[in-house]
Amino acid sequence: MSQNREQWGSRVGFILAASGSAIGLGNLWKFPYITWHNNGGAFVIVYLIAVILIGWPIMTAEILIGRKSQKNPVLAFDELGGSNWSLIGWLGVLTGLVILGYYAVIAGWTITSFISCMNWSMNGYTAPEEGAFGEFIGNGKLQLLLSFIFLALTAGVISKGIKKGIERATKILMPILFLIIVYMVIMALGLPGRNEAFSFIFSPDFSNLPPSGILEAVGHAFFTLSLGMGAMITYGSYMDKKESIFKNAALVVILDTVLAIAACVIMYTIIFSVPSVKDSISGSTVGMLFITLPNLLYTEIPFGTILAPVFYILVGFAALSSTISLLEVIVSLLIDKMKMSRQKATLIGAGTTYVISIFCALSLGAVDALSSFSIFGPGKEGVLSTLDHLASNWMLPVGGLFITIFVGWFMDQKIIQDEVGKFNDDGSVNFTYNMFKFFIRFIAPVAILAVIISVIFGKDFS
Ligand code: TRP
Repeated sequence: MSQNREQWGSRVGFILAASGSAIGLGNLWKFPYITWHNNGGAFVIVYLIAVILIGWPIMTAEILIGRKSQKNPVLAFDELGGSNWSLIGWLGVLTGLVILGYYAVIAGWTITSFISCMNWSMNGYTAPEEGAFGEFIGNGKLQLLLSFIFLALTAGVISKGIKKGIERATKILMPILFLIIVYMVIMALGLPGRNEAFSFIFSPDFSNLPPSGILEAVGHAFFTLSLGMGAMITYGSYMDKKESIFKNAALVVILDTVLAIAACVIMYTIIFSVPSVKDSISGSTVGMLFITLPNLLYTEIPFGTILAPVFYILVGFAALSSTISLLEVIVSLLIDKMKMSRQKATLIGAGTTYVISIFCALSLGAVDALSSFSIFGPGKEGVLSTLDHLASNWMLPVGGLFITIFVGWFMDQKIIQDEVGKFNDDGSVNFTYNMFKFFIRFIAPVAILAVIISVIFGKDFS
């Protein structure tokens, strides 16, 4: 392992890093709006099943590969499986570039939300007019600037190493974010739209689930847990040998899922309670996080005036701890493989990413050709949506599928015993080992394959 690689400082370092990576815009921004588009209920069930059957075993598998090899994904697969398998690592790096490219654009919106909230907190809240959000995202120059700022922040933290910056910050900020979310859930439960929101989220009606929703639920399980591209391999490589991979993986999965559901409860309750919010999001559910929440905070919630700006700083941090994990995969490869200095690797990694961000930033209304660009059909127009769809629903599941095949069928099985199994006195292996082995060999790959095959051979390509 290269001397330059950063190590997490504390024993809980992994939990902080991994949940920081997992919890982000995927939970607060993306999950609520894709759940909305897929009509709730049944989509949520499919998502939860995917998290348990696919997410948990792959989370365990990635951490295991990282901790065993102590390397970035490309070199890790190379070491444990040989050069052919390292292609999975390369696919992961490419996927990371794509995701970071558009993620930085959305993350940039937290900056303007923070500024608006400061303004509202000082001068009083005026609900944005219908269409205001569309105008904002269509402002190309502003979008270019915001994504640049966000990538620069990410690069700044990465170039310094992560222990002193992000680890220390996430330790304080993530618990505060959690508390504010809990507070908002409790307050939202007092609103009249509560019952409607709950039945939207929790009463499944499978006839309401569009066929593409199943792929989208599986893809989102990968996205929200940061799986399928090696982020958890990278973070697992910093994990203390004494920690239980099984427990840590389960904890990250649970925290991430709770936060995603909480975000839906909050947002839908407001949408069903406050008619003006429904109007303002109607054209742009993509903007839910940025339109509905300020309304709740300023009009319904005690101390909302103080909490609103704080909340968007925290969302920004949640996004930052995710962009860091994405950039770190790219940077650690450049350092280990190309022997670059951390500074140079950061500059090249972030610079390349920004090229992708430029196309995404201008695809929200600013440049027609980019905004109407479409491969996956209606509802997914524009470079940003297209890349999101491509990365989450195709690249991550395919990467994940190969990870399950590698760990379940090709990797030296003694490694699994060493990392997640314990031997009983009679020489047999314990329950955790057997269960993991069954999931990673059969359940997870079959589930992913079934979804991929049904999409390829079904009519529905979106
Ligand atoms: N999981 C993060 C979120 O939900 C995004 C993210 C960070 C990610 N690292 C990743 C997604 C790696 C896929 C792969 O916001």
